[in-house]
Amino acid sequence: MKKTYLFTLGLAVGAILPFIGCNKNKDIVIGGVAPLTGEAATFGTSTKQGYDLAVAEWNAKGGVLGKQIKLAFADDKGDPAEGATVYTKLIEQDKAIAILGTVMSKVSLAGAPICQAAKIPMIATASTNPKVTDVGPFIFRACYIDPFQGTVGAKFAFDELKARKAACLFDVGNDYPKGLSEFFKAKFTALGGEVVGFEGHATGTSDFKAQLTKVLAAKPDLLYISDYYSDVAIMAKQARELGFKGPMLGGDGWDSPKLIEIAGSAVEGCFFTNHYAKEDKAPVVQEFVMKYTDKYKAAPDALAALAYDAANIMLDAITRAGATDGAAIQAALGKTDLRVVTGQVKFDEKRNPVKSAVIIEIKGGHEVYKTTIAP
Ligand code: PHE
Repeated sequence: MKKTYLFTLGLAVGAILPFIGCNKNKDIVIGGVAPLTGEAATFGTSTKQGYDLAVAEWNAKGGVLGKQIKLAFADDKGDPAEGATVYTKLIEQDKAIAILGTVMSKVSLAGAPICQAAKIPMIATASTNPKVTDVGPFIFRACYIDPFQGTVGAKFAFDELKARKAACLFDVGNDYPKGLSEFFKAKFTALGGEVVGFEGHATGTSDFKAQLTKVLAAKPDLLYISDYYSDVAIMAKQARELGFKGPMLGGDGWDSPKLIEIAGSAVEGCFFTNHYAKEDKAPVVQEFVMKYTDKYKAAPDALAALAYDAANIMLDAITRAGATDGAAIQAALGKTDLRVVTGQVKFDEKRNPVKSAVIIEIKGGHEVYKTTIAP
């Protein structure tokens, strides 16, 4: 009995071992990070789906450098401390040779120093705060940056919406909204507009009436809300409750199916800047929209597109590097010249791609593509 048992055990171990060894040699591990839970959970779902789609496509075509790609995914929970933990885990335990992600600037800012120190190339998907790539030469991103996004918003407010008095509202505890409101303010003022209110609120606030009452007293034509959709939805409702009838404008953080779901008619006639429009007729966009919708039964938002792009940019660089060491991939990434869903990607000296922005209008309870604005 015992002998048979040992024999069977031996056979089982013998059968499994080569596969463990084999997997180690065969797969190339890429880390993927996104917030699947927390204040911006829809960002994580879309992002993970974008990574998964790109990796599945590469694997179906034979992988990269002749090996299959394994995506080691981790949820950063939208929290910088958690972000630091998962970036370290992906590098030290999973042995990722490169990292995709993450979404929120404040979390990418926690992950970037870890990748930089380990010389593991990282490409943030949707983190638009300029400080992210300032961390060092191993840090890239797939999206434009907020000085550009804020400028696009300010010009649109001034030229198209004819706003002359604007008020900004933002989370002070978060690099992205704080930075974006500052960039908007600088440009709007330079254009000749006046920023009549500039009110921060603490992270986690759900009652914005004090800030809104204060800024509305100065009679702005427009509210610029540079937060994530979860805050925007509540703020928009409260602004309407307080009698504000003008347009509200914001940045890419508005991009979530939950925005209209929660805010309803409060965001009707409002606008936000974003990274791409699924209505774009370019074949690369239409092909992506079709494949993504087919696989996930939902249309891809900008987070999904940027994640898909980040994966393609990284895998293209690894292919051109012809090697898996960080320095070779980093050098190849720097030479990227690739048409992806959200535009043509070439990195500037700060490893930021120079790309267009689109403006989305909320009309009839839907997001409608309005215009594209070149850098
Ligand atoms: N730009 C945001 C940040 O830097 C993240 C984001 C991008 C959110 C795109 C939604 C859509 O934190």
